[in-house]
Amino acid sequence: MSASTLSTRELYDRYVIPTYGRFDLQLARGEGSYVWDEASKRYLDFGAGIAVTSVGHCHPRVVRVMCEQMASLVHTSNLYYTRPQAVLAERLVNCVGAPGKVFFCNSGAEANEALYKLARKFGNEGEPPAARHSVGEMIEPCSSRHEIITMLGSFHGRTLAGIAATGQEKVKKGFEPMVQGFTYVPFNDSPALLAAVQEPGTVAILLEPVQGERGIYIADADFLRQARGLCDRHNLLLMFDEVQCGLGRTGDWCGWKSILGTDEVLPDAISWAKGIAGGFPLGAIWVSDRLVHLKGGATLPLCDLLGPGSHGTTFGGTPLVSTGANEVLSIIEEEGMLENARVMGAYAKAAIEKLESPLIKEVRGIGLLLAFELADDFAERVAVPKGQTAALYLVNALHEAGLLSVPSGAQAVRWLPPLNVSQSEIDEAVAILSSVLLSPS
Ligand SMILES: Cc1ncc(COP(=O)(O)O)c(C=O)c1O
Repeated sequence: MSASTLSTRELYDRYVIPTYGRFDLQLARGEGSYVWDEASKRYLDFGAGIAVTSVGHCHPRVVRVMCEQMASLVHTSNLYYTRPQAVLAERLVNCVGAPGKVFFCNSGAEANEALYKLARKFGNEGEPPAARHSVGEMIEPCSSRHEIITMLGSFHGRTLAGIAATGQEKVKKGFEPMVQGFTYVPFNDSPALLAAVQEPGTVAILLEPVQGERGIYIADADFLRQARGLCDRHNLLLMFDEVQCGLGRTGDWCGWKSILGTDEVLPDAISWAKGIAGGFPLGAIWVSDRLVHLKGGATLPLCDLLGPGSHGTTFGGTPLVSTGANEVLSIIEEEGMLENARVMGAYAKAAIEKLESPLIKEVRGIGLLLAFELADDFAERVAVPKGQTAALYLVNALHEAGLLSVPSGAQAVRWLPPLNVSQSEIDEAVAILSSVLLSPS
């Protein structure tokens, strides 16, 4: 078969299902914090593949170990044991800093699927709370203990259960009927969370410690504490979706610890993906070893509840991708990137604020998970063409000027650079932003 004579764009238009609203950029190469398009134009990449290329593009250490592993063993299926997956599981448990076990999959949506299944199993097989707490009362049989409370504005992925869990109507449209079993409360609203817990129906609370897709909204420390307390009182699972905020982006391995500044809250389960392997597709969940009282009277560590035959995937945690993830996590640790994320994140936030642009309403974020909200009247001031959002307009203008960033909804733009971004690269990005804001059209 001969190579196509069509352009990349033409090939997409003809052969790729148009699920994405793509920018008109054909990227060909990357190195560190930069990418180049097919015409060799260079861009500073502050999108990092939407918070994925955590140690930058083509880090030489990652390239070397992946090439070696490619030449040794790429895939075996999960019928067998492989050393890189085992070592990665230990490393991830250490990142959490609490005993538990890990399951590997391929993406954030899949990692969350594993959380929903864990919660269902916990609800179906675990002893209902009332049975243990109400001595001498008639106990309702709890076959329906499966409701998961999630947050309005959340994003949990594009599978059927993922869009049902997501607290945004736009992702559900056209895919009804929704998977049952999700209830939504406003983010950071403790009274609403308390009111939403139903006994015996509620089984878990799922939340992003930092809501990423919505435009970087950080959970209040007290909301996290209240959620933990509620879960303890009602025997619910507290599950954190750290797909976007986890494994270093906030300046800590655990996004929620960056918020609390302490270890006082520990979830029962966590999902990860995105930056975990620096660009190779991998998702994972961590589940705590806390004991579960089963209906028949036995007890089991929660992390052993999803037993043989209950869940699985062909590719999850291949030797190749696990080798990449092990190297990425080692690099983050050895090259001081958690500290860099904290310091450079604060530096970037302050630098954007210092622009004092009337076109920017607010800068939000923690570590290198940053967003700036555009002024309410941005579209009028800048004469954004009808049909385009302010965020899309600005992101396109930044592309023109050589900077990649990621829109969040209609009014916010995210900066999610690699965790080893340098001060001079931030200065370069801020200078581009400043020049575009001064003459945006
Ligand atoms: C918090 C969160 N959860 C889940 C997902 C879904 O991850 P994936 O796109 O890898 O399925 C995303 C993706 O943006 C996310 O930000």
